[in-house]
Amino acid sequence: MKYGKSGCKIKKERKKMKQKKQNEISVLLGYAGKYKVLTFLGMFLSAVAMIMGMIPYVCIWLAARDLIGVAPDWTQATEIAKYGWLAFGFAFGGIIIYFAALMCTHLAAFRTAANIRKQGVAHMMKAPLGFFDSNASGLLRNRLDGGAAETETLLAHNLADIVGTAAMFIGMIVLMFVFDWRMGASCLVAAVISVGAMFTMMGGKNAKLMMEYQTAQDVMSKAGTEYVRGIPVVKVFQQTVYSFKAFKAAIENYSNKAEKYTGGVCRVPQSVNLTATEGVFIFLVPAVLLIAPSALSSGDFAGFITNFAFYAVFSAIVSTALARIMFAASGLMLAKTALARIDTVMKAPTLEITDNPQAPRNNGVEFKNVTFTYDGADVPALEHVSFKVLPGQTVALVGPSGGGKTTAASMIPRFWDVSSGEVLVGDVNVKDIDPHVLMDKVAFVFQNTRLFKTSILENVRAARPDASREEVLSALHAAQCDDIIEKLPNGIDTLIGSEGTYLSGGEQQRVALARAILKNAPIIVLDEATAFADPENEALIQKALKTLTEGRTVIMIAHRLSTVVGADNIIVLDNGHIVEEGTHDKLSSGEGLYARMWREYNQAVRWKIVSAKEGD
Ligand SMILES: Nc1ncnc2c1ncn2[C@@H]1O[C@H](COP(=O)(O)OP(=O)(O)OP(=O)(O)O)[C@@H](O)[C@H]1O
Ligand SMILES: [Mg+2]
Repeated sequence: MKYGKSGCKIKKERKKMKQKKQNEISVLLGYAGKYKVLTFLGMFLSAVAMIMGMIPYVCIWLAARDLIGVAPDWTQATEIAKYGWLAFGFAFGGIIIYFAALMCTHLAAFRTAANIRKQGVAHMMKAPLGFFDSNASGLLRNRLDGGAAETETLLAHNLADIVGTAAMFIGMIVLMFVFDWRMGASCLVAAVISVGAMFTMMGGKNAKLMMEYQTAQDVMSKAGTEYVRGIPVVKVFQQTVYSFKAFKAAIENYSNKAEKYTGGVCRVPQSVNLTATEGVFIFLVPAVLLIAPSALSSGDFAGFITNFAFYAVFSAIVSTALARIMFAASGLMLAKTALARIDTVMKAPTLEITDNPQAPRNNGVEFKNVTFTYDGADVPALEHVSFKVLPGQTVALVGPSGGGKTTAASMIPRFWDVSSGEVLVGDVNVKDIDPHVLMDKVAFVFQNTRLFKTSILENVRAARPDASREEVLSALHAAQCDDIIEKLPNGIDTLIGSEGTYLSGGEQQRVALARAILKNAPIIVLDEATAFADPENEALIQKALKTLTEGRTVIMIAHRLSTVVGADNIIVLDNGHIVEEGTHDKLSSGEGLYARMWREYNQAVRWKIVSAKEGD
């Protein structure tokens, strides 16, 4: 009873595994689109090629029978040439058809990989911009591009080989009955043992170990990259052995997992598998010993020898077929992990786009009871945040690091969407505004400015691709960038980030401001635009900011409180909550967090002045 139950369980498990494999293949075929037909055609042709590839063995059997039948008077073997040509014809035809099969499957595989890449990129375009902050571009590229490439082997080779091998096994069973079932069965025993060994390696608990082994490999490669990336920090802080710690642990973990999987799990089944695959011939021996006496006594020794010759040669293709199955099984596993990686891109949340867009009615911004939690975070980064910025007003967000300022600012251009509550631009929920219209309304200067590796001209023009050279120049002038352009070898056509032309943090921020000025959006979101600047740069940035913010709605985040003194309203964010709100005069005369921050800020400025004087 117990046995019956567990047998049933195993069957169910197998069914589940089978379904999973089918699902992976059907997922891939889903990406193939109309090229699915080519995959099926390739699979069919592969089966035809395999069957054709078996016929020469039959021809050999016929020729051998012919020869042995007339021995020793070989001249009587008149059919030999015919069988020879037939064998050649089928072998050659089989190769040509297999070639055609591979052409079909390769074409389908490349198109499928291209479709995966296209769909992935199209999906990413719909993701909120914040998604790219939490997912490095290299990682996304690796998942999508690398993942797509890894599916190629399955579609280009494995599927055709699986179908071809299945056709071959059916052919083999037929031939088994045609010639000598005992010798045929011996060949099949080898096949069954080999397949059983493969299932042992890849099924059940071992599949989990295999996944762990692959994950360990991934982790090790990531740790390696991190280590190389961190070399400057390691050198600056004179770290030696400790810097290796994470990398070394990852290598050791991989080594353990590899040993556990290859040594513990694979050693015996793989040895059995290889013995069965490579030594199919040996399985014929007991059958031969069993049949030989009766063949001798019955007088049909010629027939026995012919059959033996056939199976001896035929066993070679059994081992080739088994090797193909193994290759195909590893292709399936590879495709499975590749699809999982691709899924992380394809299943990334997308920005909801309204079917019924509304135009913002003015240039005001309002937060209504906004709560937002980052994916995977335990606590909300913003909780019940409400404030209003009237058109043309300047509102400052201040507060300790990690308070939620950048997060709040990011919600306005929908880098992230609220978890609950509403963000309104021009009295319309940002979710109900056409994303293009919203992007035109809001210019964002990031905390960490990013310039592209291209000319200054193109970097600024990114804000408005149809802007003329003159417009770009005047935006750069307004952003106080004249000194930067003067010192560059090719002016605004100089490529940034190459051949030694790098800009300082403050310089990059001014170029970013020029970009925002060129965009000419009515709402400006500034995230700590002065964080990196030296005093000289800061003065220039303040001037550029004045041009940028004039007559516009501004939401600014600044650590240097002197910049926010003139703001119409100051919102103090701490731990994702608004703890205070009001003008500078009101808040600084109170006893709250802002007043404390203001006192500390002034003290820091005084220290600076004193130490500067002492330095004189
Ligand atoms: N992409 C992200 N994924 C997960 N958590 C994040 C992400 N960005 C920020 N956080 C978390 O959200 C909280 C608020 O961060 P935020 O960047 O908004 O702070 P901030 O007020 O701008 O700080 P700072 O003054 O240092 O720039 C922090 O606890 C931070 O760890
Ligand atoms: Mg910030």
